[in-house]
Amino acid sequence: MILIISDTHSYYNTINHQIRHAEFTMGTPVSCVIHLGDFGIYKSSLHDFFIKQKQRFLKPVYFIEGNHEDHNALPKLTKKYKDYFTHLSRGKVFEINGLRFLCLGGTAYMDAMNTQLGAIISDNNINECLSIPSDKVDIIITHDCPAGIGVPNTPGLEFFSEPGFERSAELGIHFKPELWLFGHHHQWFEHRDDHTSYYGFPSAWRGYGLLDEGFNIKIQNNEMPILKRKRSLMEKIFIKLKIIR
Ligand SMILES: [Fe+2]
Repeated sequence: MILIISDTHSYYNTINHQIRHAEFTMGTPVSCVIHLGDFGIYKSSLHDFFIKQKQRFLKPVYFIEGNHEDHNALPKLTKKYKDYFTHLSRGKVFEINGLRFLCLGGTAYMDAMNTQLGAIISDNNINECLSIPSDKVDIIITHDCPAGIGVPNTPGLEFFSEPGFERSAELGIHFKPELWLFGHHHQWFEHRDDHTSYYGFPSAWRGYGLLDEGFNIKIQNNEMPILKRKRSLMEKIFIKLKIIR
């Protein structure tokens, strides 16, 4: 089974906690983890967890980027920590456990505080995805949700316009994927249209999904306390402004 998780916001240990829950509490073997963004790619947080505390993930972890990463440092940091986790680049297809995932990290523009330039999903990103033959993709994974499927705004962020990124419908029409998985909005969400089942995932400390090779997703609620860790200055500002919790 692939464990699907999202929005760790640098609380990396929640990944190991949920792997243990899946394997030892639920009795489900986990082969690897796919993370749907807002992993928390920040130099000081990564150094603290992987180098200072000498921690490692219990299973291979693959991730797409969200908006809450240091996008300027992302290429350098993902290269530096390549033995700890693997970045799935935007606009590319990766085969994991025999399933073919079209990966599209990033988000629609929200505001200058939430959305670094590098986070914004561009026309070029969409065009690159659409250049891929439709029969080469089983599952689309994005950080932001597709527009028009009824995802409510993140609690507390209702003043932003309707969730979803532009031209997402073109991807749905072109690929007609079995599944479309996303995070970012910090809530469970499910929707089905003629071709595709859509699943939105909450913060990592609230639960995860288990994906089998037949495209079945089992949703697992598992609330856990957030373990203490060092916060970066940027995070402290975000928390003060109630942008993240
Ligand atoms: Fe996000």
